[in-house]
Parts: sequence; structure tokens; C-alpha cells
Amino acid sequence: MTLENLKIADIVKEDIRLAGFFQDENIDFCCNGHRQLQEVLAEKALDPEAFFQRLEAHKAALDAKGAKEDFFNAMTNEELITHIRLNHHMFTRQVLKELDVYTSAILKAHYRHAPELLLQVNRLYGGLRMELLEHLIKEEEELFPLILGERYAEARVLLEATEEEHDAAGKLLATLRSITSDYTLPDWACNTFKATYHHLEALESDLFRHIFLENSILFERF
Ligand SMILES: [Fe+2]
Ligand SMILES: [Fe+2]
Repeated sequence: MTLENLKIADIVKEDIRLAGFFQDENIDFCCNGHRQLQEVLAEKALDPEAFFQRLEAHKAALDAKGAKEDFFNAMTNEELITHIRLNHHMFTRQVLKELDVYTSAILKAHYRHAPELLLQVNRLYGGLRMELLEHLIKEEEELFPLILGERYAEARVLLEATEEEHDAAGKLLATLRSITSDYTLPDWACNTFKATYHHLEALESDLFRHIFLENSILFERF
């Protein structure tokens, strides 16, 4: 693999199993998947040779486990959309439902411990929740039916706004990650607080895979 002109999404597109590797390295492969890997490594002061060694080791570990490679590229639009809806859209709605309860509960129980942090988490989560619920509906009711009906010209008109919504969600998640210091638990964290951080991280990690499948595989087709 030569580094020159290699985009982050190129690697994940070839082997979706490597999504987890990029997450571990804290490299955004979905909203910023179009960026040159070389540039991102330089920004993070990561040595390319050592990076590729880790990447190969990760791949070998996956192979050893017999992890099945998912060939999303080989799926039809219909199969891919069904996969996205049944896995990612369902998962997102489920996690949001739980987070609705947790975020209100910790705001009430721990406000005195860290008022600034709790207000910020509550507001950012509220914004993210609204963005995501509206986004899922728009895809299901507008964009996906156009793609399935092979009305690509009409679908293309919606792509820019859809990708902007992906970016907006990505930014809210990045801010949440930063204000919670990478979801570091304070020493007074109760089980509900732990569950809140855990679910926010799960939402982030699923959303990265979800957006990748849409931006870099599905939308690239038309
Ligand atoms: Fe989606
Ligand atoms: Fe989406």
C-alpha cells in the first residue's frame, strides 16, 4: 500500500472491518474519509511506517479470529439500504430512547457535582437527538425511496443536504467527546452516569460506520 494519494475512506472501503482500527487510532473515517491519510498522519504526528504495521497487525488479528469480511461494495442498493435501516437506523433509535432517560436522570441527580458539564451534555445531546431523528426520517421517507425507484437525478439533489447533516452530527459528537474529556468518568459517577457515557460512545461508534456506508459506498454510486 503506498501512502501517496491514499484517502482514509479507500482503506475502509476495501475492508470495512478496519473501521474499528481507525476508531482506535482516533482517525475519523466517515465525515473526513475523503482526506489524504498522509496529511492526517502528519497532523497527528504519527509515523506512517509504524501506522501501517499496526494496521497489518490488526488485519492479521481479524483474519485469525476468522472475522468474516463484509463486502458492502458487492451489495445491491436495495440490500445496502435494508442493511442500513435494519442495523443502523434501528440501533440509533434504540440508543436515543435510552439516552433520553439517562441524560435527564443524571442532570437531575448530579447537577451540583458539575453544573457546567451536565448542562453542556444535556444541550448537545438534545441537539444531536433532534438532528438524528429528523435525519433518519428524511432518509427513509425521501432519499431511500428515490434511490430504490432509480430516480437518481432527484436523489442527487438531496445528497448535499444529507451529507451536511452527517457532518453536523459528527461535529456534535466531537464536541461531546471533547467536553467529556474522551468520556472520562468523574470519580463521583454513578451507574446511570456510566451508562450515559457508554451509550454516547456506542452511538458515536455506530454512527461512524453508518455514515461511512452512506457517504462512501451508497452515495458514491450515483
Ligand atoms: Fe442513515
Ligand atoms: Fe445518513
